[in-house]
Amino acid sequence: MKIENLEKYRCPLSGEKLVLDKSSKIEDNKVVEGILLAVKANKKYFIREGCVDFITPEQEIKGAAFARQYYSEIAKTYDENVHITFELYKENELDIRNRMINLLELKSNFKVLEVSAGTGQDSQIIASKLNKEGGLWLLDISPDMLAYNMQKLKNVTNTSTEYVVASACAIPFSDNSFDALYCFAGVGHFPDIAKGLSEMARVVKAGGKVVFSEKNVPEWLRETEYGKVCINNNPMFADPVPLKYIPVEARNVGVRWINGNVHYVFDYTVGEGEPQGNFDMEIPGERGGSFNSRYYGKLEGVSKETKKKAIQAQKLSGKSMHKWLDEIISKEAEILINRGK
Ligand SMILES: C[S@@+](CC[C@H](N)C(=O)[O-])C[C@H]1O[C@@H](n2cnc3c(N)ncnc32)[C@H](O)[C@@H]1O
Repeated sequence: MKIENLEKYRCPLSGEKLVLDKSSKIEDNKVVEGILLAVKANKKYFIREGCVDFITPEQEIKGAAFARQYYSEIAKTYDENVHITFELYKENELDIRNRMINLLELKSNFKVLEVSAGTGQDSQIIASKLNKEGGLWLLDISPDMLAYNMQKLKNVTNTSTEYVVASACAIPFSDNSFDALYCFAGVGHFPDIAKGLSEMARVVKAGGKVVFSEKNVPEWLRETEYGKVCINNNPMFADPVPLKYIPVEARNVGVRWINGNVHYVFDYTVGEGEPQGNFDMEIPGERGGSFNSRYYGKLEGVSKETKKKAIQAQKLSGKSMHKWLDEIISKEAEILINRGK
């Protein structure tokens, strides 16, 4: 961990800023061994061989333990077997990975976070696109997967790399820390997908891109032999597409199915809060009014007969229903209010 990057980190449990323990060993402005302290939360996070481990017993209990254990067991053989994920569908791994990474629209000075980076198949492609002003942060819940990633990227000199053991559901970085975020084949393992997806949006600056992908047999292939064979092999192919967990900050959301049509890829640009509309705009026509008057201006209904008469009168008035009603009600209300004064 570079000393200058300390600012970016926060406690994954309390969100507070972290303090570097005085006993920490620093070489070339990097913390090689040491401890990050979260004073309020009373937590210690250890830095070993430059990599911070943010996994606490609390997070293990919340579902992180299984994935951590599973991937630690298969880390050694992961790279030998990962080509299967693409060859099964007659696809070219490099081509698929590049297509997803291109959606990030990277600039060489970008600071990028890769979530569930694993052994670094995508990390090396992303790193090759960045320069010294930029940087790549690799986050994974399994220190064993990251150990292979570190090995793969050890000769990367064009940009800086930093490794973090953490859960995607409690990302140990401050808000707006990155220009882009990428996650391939991690979401399906998150113990809380809603939290994971909202965390991913939180740490990206407004205007930055988020790209994530996971296996999924789309609805239109569910009843095909092809789809059934995939789901039979791994029930995760039938997991729902997390549309309802896409954060409200997402703008220009794209989704496509690639890699044999059984992996969705979402890409979106991070915005600020909810989208803002021009909802006071007058809408022409008989009904009239605006999106806002139709939403906020509802009163109790009237009788069937009164409604019939109102429609007749509104037509004679030459005004929209909204304008006619709004004027009459406002005028009448003012008379009563003034009388009451
Ligand atoms: C199928 S591998 C994908 C690795 C890599 N992205 C690739 O393309 O080869 C899934 C990765 O997700 C990681 N993972 C699982 N649960 C996680 C979580 N809650 N937070 C962060 N990473 C997680 C695993 O440790 C593993 O490295």
